[in-house]
Amino acid sequence: MNTRSLLTSSVSRRVLRPVADLIDRRIDRHIDRRLRSTAAADAADRERLRETAETVRRQELTLELLLGSSGRGLSRAVSPGPLNRLRSEVAELAGDRGAAERNVATAYRLLVALESLGTGRIAGGTMNICGKLGTIPLLDPPNDEILEIGTLYGMFSAGLIRMMERDGRSPGVTIVDPFAGVQLQPGTPRRSDPSGTPVDERAVRTNLALAGPAGVAARIQRGFSEDPGTRAAVSDRRYGVIVVDGDHSAEGVAKDLQWAEEIAAPGGIVVLDDFGDPKWPGIEEALDKHLTGATRFTYLGKAALSAFLRAA
Ligand SMILES: C[S@@+](CC[C@H](N)C(=O)[O-])C[C@H]1O[C@@H](n2cnc3c(N)ncnc32)[C@H](O)[C@@H]1O
Repeated sequence: MNTRSLLTSSVSRRVLRPVADLIDRRIDRHIDRRLRSTAAADAADRERLRETAETVRRQELTLELLLGSSGRGLSRAVSPGPLNRLRSEVAELAGDRGAAERNVATAYRLLVALESLGTGRIAGGTMNICGKLGTIPLLDPPNDEILEIGTLYGMFSAGLIRMMERDGRSPGVTIVDPFAGVQLQPGTPRRSDPSGTPVDERAVRTNLALAGPAGVAARIQRGFSEDPGTRAAVSDRRYGVIVVDGDHSAEGVAKDLQWAEEIAAPGGIVVLDDFGDPKWPGIEEALDKHLTGATRFTYLGKAALSAFLRAA
């Protein structure tokens, strides 16, 4: 009898059965143990995943409260595309990539801080605000006198004071706004602000105070920028920086640019807000027309939705 027939014979099978059963039971126990430990590992993985999802949801909610649109109309969350574009635009205007990146970052932190602590909000999109705040000091204005035409809550001027001081400057701010309780824009219905705060001088004072002594010392002129009385009250100096952000109609912007021609210091910077914004076509229209006439201004470029000019 060969080995094969010895193992498969009925006698051998009977004799070997208990051994085979023992081996089978051991294999079954082993598989059972493996299955149980795999199931336990799966359950632990699912629990870890659930905890991670819960943490992410909490972080999302926290960030939404800090940076979301509620109370200011627009979210302050940042996306890589627009941020990189803004850095490049500021670098192009300033001629310094490193300084542009630094200023955009510090302007962003300042924006979030001011809106967290102030009354009201800063108007406009995040990239546009960071572009204005970041670029102005880098253009090295010829003096520290700043005029903002149209301030809403004065919070942008508070931010600009901080940005100029960070650059070693001693800004003095003048503000012109009608403070009508709400934002006034020709052709736009009067409606309450997303922040819920009335547009008045008190809010502006509170926000300017956040910028320290220079903010407290700011000069506030209530009125429309085209009014001769308003103009006479603040045309006593030549401004190193003029921010045009009042009446957004083509006629309104044209008048403000004409006034800026008279009161900008040699080398002064004029910032034209909301330039190229499809919501306000009159702004680009007014600037294009202005630059075709006799002017001291040279167009330097734009960052987000703001145009920058320099006076001769
Ligand atoms: C877009 S908001 C200004 C936003 C502000 N510069 C900021 O960055 O937060 C425009 C402001 O200009 C005011 N305004 C409207 N017409 C004006 C005019 N003719 N002269 C001065 N301010 C005017 C509005 O009432 C409003 O307060």
